[in-house]
Amino acid sequence: MSRAFTYVILGGGVAAGYAALEFVRRRGDAALGELCIISEEAVAPYERPALSKGYLLPEGGARLPAFHTCVGANDQLLTAEWYREHGIELILGTKVISADVRRKTLVTSIGKTINYKTLIVATGARASKLEEFGVSGSDAENVCYLRNIVDADKLVRVMRSSPGGNAIVIGGGYIGMECAAALVANKIKVTIVFPGKYCMDRLFTQKIAEFYENYYTSKGVTFIKGTAVSSLEVSSGMVTTAILRDGRPLPADMVVVGIGARANTALFEGQLTLEKGGIKVNGQMQTSDASVYAVGDVAAFPVKLFGGDARRLEHVDCARRTARHAVAAVLDPTGAAGDIDYLPFFYSRVFALSWRFYGDNAGEAVHFGDLGFSSASSTPKFGAFWVSSGRIAGAFLEGGSPEEYEAIAHAVRRGAAVPDVAQLVREGLAFVVRE
Ligand code: FDA
Ligand code: NAD
Repeated sequence: MSRAFTYVILGGGVAAGYAALEFVRRRGDAALGELCIISEEAVAPYERPALSKGYLLPEGGARLPAFHTCVGANDQLLTAEWYREHGIELILGTKVISADVRRKTLVTSIGKTINYKTLIVATGARASKLEEFGVSGSDAENVCYLRNIVDADKLVRVMRSSPGGNAIVIGGGYIGMECAAALVANKIKVTIVFPGKYCMDRLFTQKIAEFYENYYTSKGVTFIKGTAVSSLEVSSGMVTTAILRDGRPLPADMVVVGIGARANTALFEGQLTLEKGGIKVNGQMQTSDASVYAVGDVAAFPVKLFGGDARRLEHVDCARRTARHAVAAVLDPTGAAGDIDYLPFFYSRVFALSWRFYGDNAGEAVHFGDLGFSSASSTPKFGAFWVSSGRIAGAFLEGGSPEEYEAIAHAVRRGAAVPDVAQLVREGLAFVVRE
């Protein structure tokens, strides 16, 4: 059995939702029946960041339909009904198992063939598994990953059945840190284990990391750094103990794993050019095949601000913007959309804290504000600028106001000149926020 659509979005995550809205905005009713979204997930696209934040609250947690896309950008709420009303077919709970770029076909797990004229690949990323690092036990009943809503439901279930228990969080990146905060809120004792010297080492400097580690420690979290869990002891389908490399046992009522993500490129390997672990695209988000575009976590695209260097950014703002840009390019093949000009933007919210980062953490880091953690300070404000070739290349700010975030973003966007680093050290945030 086969179906044919002019446009197919493969993947039903954040990028798919924002692409659909852009499509409707540009095509209006002309869009009816032309577009379909195929997703392995059983629900319409939603704002994935909610899964490690609002979804895990001990009470009154966020639940669908409240966080379908595109509410994360303060835009419309695209429920399944919205897609129906706009003639967009949602093919949910359906995994695509093969793609033939030359023939322009996709085959689903139930053997259905879907033909397209233009394909937008939005397959995102998947969580790396412990087994990839030689540790078995991922399928135990109390081991949780967090990539989709099914994972989030399992995490909530396991948390609720472990009140006052011990959680071992494996990984000190985004998932590890955000889940640790949620576990504390759910009154679970947390030990975080990771091989690096400090948490969030892909982005933070050691000084920034120390602030958050001290903050977490004040909430009762224990950090075990510079080592890894080498095995999990399982009894009756449940992990009971995590064993560290040096043989030290850590009792566990539950385990949360956040050890990185891998882009879902497998369907296109050998067919499209790959780069940085993702699918290489040009500034119009077009792959090495002119009929195929790629967006979101799976796309490695040129960032003008970094001299056209290809980057693959696993963050929600990037998914939203690359998706919109691809649709603009697809619907106007004259090239009027131009090349994407993206300012990388990441953020996180944990406990009462909230930070934003813009640009690239390349060059010399110049810290500002009070990075010394004090339990008395309920509203910390500090950050860092990264200076590269005499210009501000990146900026991080904890506890900023909307105007301050705007100011650091603007400084990075225009590559504010730093003729004298000592002045930046002296002035700190005031260097970019002028009265
Ligand atoms: P996304 O992963 O959202 O969607 C991919 C979709 O493709 C999924 O529906 C998947 O099932 C589907 N798919 C894959 N292969 C398929 C196949 N073969 N057949 C059918 N369907 C297939 N970022 C940020 O900036 N701030 C934040 O606070 C957070 N918080 C956060 C929390 C959690 C728990 C996660 C997991 C991630 C974040 N992120 C984040 C990252 C952000 O969510 C991420 O960058 C975007 O979801 C990427 O959007 P995509 O649409 O590219 O992939
Ligand atoms: P990550 O890359 O942020 O962190 C991975 C962590 O795992 C690092 O601390 C690393 O040192 C550690 N690690 C690697 N191998 C390990 C091992 N064998 N044992 C123990 N630790 C190990 O990845 P993540 O936290 O898993 O996040 C997954 C994805 O979700 C990423 O794409 C991320 O961008 C996204 N996400 C983003 C946000 C946000 O932007 N606020 C929030 C949640 C998730």
